[in-house]
Amino acid sequence: MGATGRLSIAGVDVLGLVGEVGTPVFVYDEEHIRRRCREARRAFGPRVAYASKAFMCKAMAALVHEEGCCIDVSTGGELAVALAAGVPGERLVMHGNNKSMEELEAARAAGVGRVVVDSFDEIDRLATLSQKLPHGRPAPKVWARVTPGVEAHTHEYVMTGQDDSKFGFGLASGAAEEALHRLRSEFAGVELVGLHVHIGSQIFALESFELALSVIAQFFERSGLEELCMGGGLGVPYVAGESAPSITEWAEAIKVAARRAGIAEKTVISAEPGRAIVARSAITCYTVGTVKELPGLRTYVSVDGGMSDNPRPVLYGSGYEAFLPRDVPAERPRVVTVVGKHCESGDVVVRDAHVPTDLCVGDVLATPVTGAYGHSMASNYNKVPRPPVVFVKDGSWRVVVRRETYEDLLALDA
Ligand SMILES: Cc1ncc(COP(=O)(O)O)c(C=O)c1O
Repeated sequence: MGATGRLSIAGVDVLGLVGEVGTPVFVYDEEHIRRRCREARRAFGPRVAYASKAFMCKAMAALVHEEGCCIDVSTGGELAVALAAGVPGERLVMHGNNKSMEELEAARAAGVGRVVVDSFDEIDRLATLSQKLPHGRPAPKVWARVTPGVEAHTHEYVMTGQDDSKFGFGLASGAAEEALHRLRSEFAGVELVGLHVHIGSQIFALESFELALSVIAQFFERSGLEELCMGGGLGVPYVAGESAPSITEWAEAIKVAARRAGIAEKTVISAEPGRAIVARSAITCYTVGTVKELPGLRTYVSVDGGMSDNPRPVLYGSGYEAFLPRDVPAERPRVVTVVGKHCESGDVVVRDAHVPTDLCVGDVLATPVTGAYGHSMASNYNKVPRPPVVFVKDGSWRVVVRRETYEDLLALDA
C-alpha cells in the first residue's frame, strides 16, 4: 500500500498501471510466486512440480524453472508452452486422463521426465508407441496414478481421490495392482519408477492427505517403487476468516504421515502444488460500469469482466473479497453483488461483496487471490477478449500475456 492508501504492489502504483493497460487485468507479484516456488522446492526437493493448469504462460514456466521446480503439464498445449519457454523436457511431468497418441509422442520426443499413466488404454498406447520408435532410445520413466478411495473435504467437482473417479487406477478394485503388473511387462516399453496420488483441490485439512497416505502405504511398499508423488491440492484462503496450512507445513505433515504409515525413508516423496504457488500472487482489476440499486433487494455493481476471466464463482460457488485500490484501508460496510458483463444472471464475481460506501461508476475495483484457475480457465464467452497478464517486480512491470483483440477473436474463423 502506498502512503496515500492507494494500492501499490512491489513498488508499482496499481492505478497508474491500470491507466496504461486498461481493465480487466491480472496483476501478479512476481516475487511472491518465486517465494512460493522456493518454499516448495525446500519442502519437497528438486522433483516438486508446479501444476501449470493453475496458471500458465511462457513467463510463468520460465520463472518456475529458474526457481528449480519441475512443471506438471496435463495436455499437449501446456507441454508446448513449457517447451517454448525453454524448460528442458526432463523437468516436466506429463499428466492427463486421456492423452492422445500425438500427446504421448510429443512427450516422448521432448524427453519428458515422468509420464503419469492414467488408464489401461494409455498403457496400450505407450506399448504401441515404443514399437514405433527406434530401438536403443531409453524407455520413458512413468508413475502409475492410483485413486486411493479417499474423499477429500472439498467441492465435489475438484475431488479426485474417490473410487468413483475418471482418474487413475482404483486401489480397492484391484485395477492398480493390474496396472503395475502390465506396466512391468517386457512389452510395456516404459520404466515404472513410482506412484502418483492426487485426492483433490482446495483442501485445508491435512488429515485428508494423511488418510490418503495411510491407505496407499502398504500397496506402495509392496510395489518396491522408490518415488511417490502426493499430487497437489493444498487450499488457500480466499475470503476473510479462512486460513490454510503453508506449503512447508503440508510437506511436513505428508512426510510424518509417510513414516508413520511405514513408507521407507529412502522414498522420494514429491508433490505438485498449483493453487498454493500462484493463487495469492495476483489480483484482478476491473472498472465499475453500472451501479443498480434495488431497494430492499440488493445492489448490483457491474464490472467489465466476469465469468469469462473468473469462472470459479459460477463453477463452484467460490467466494472472493473486493476492494478499491484507490483507498485500500477504507471501511467496507456496504454489501453489494459484483456481477460481470455476460448475458447470464449467474455471471457473479462476488456474491456478497463488502465495499466502501462511496464506491461509484468509474472506480477500479479489485478482487484478490485470483492468480490460480482464473486466467487459465478464462474463455471468450460472449466474444469478450481475455484480459492481459502483468508481472510486477522491483518497482516496474511487464506485460507477459497481452490483451486479446477482436482480430484475435476472428483469427480462427474461415
Ligand atoms: C493431478 C493434479 N495435480 C496437481 C493439481 C493441482 O492442484 P492444486 O492447484 O489444487 O494444487 C491438480 C489439480 O486439480 C491435478 O489434477
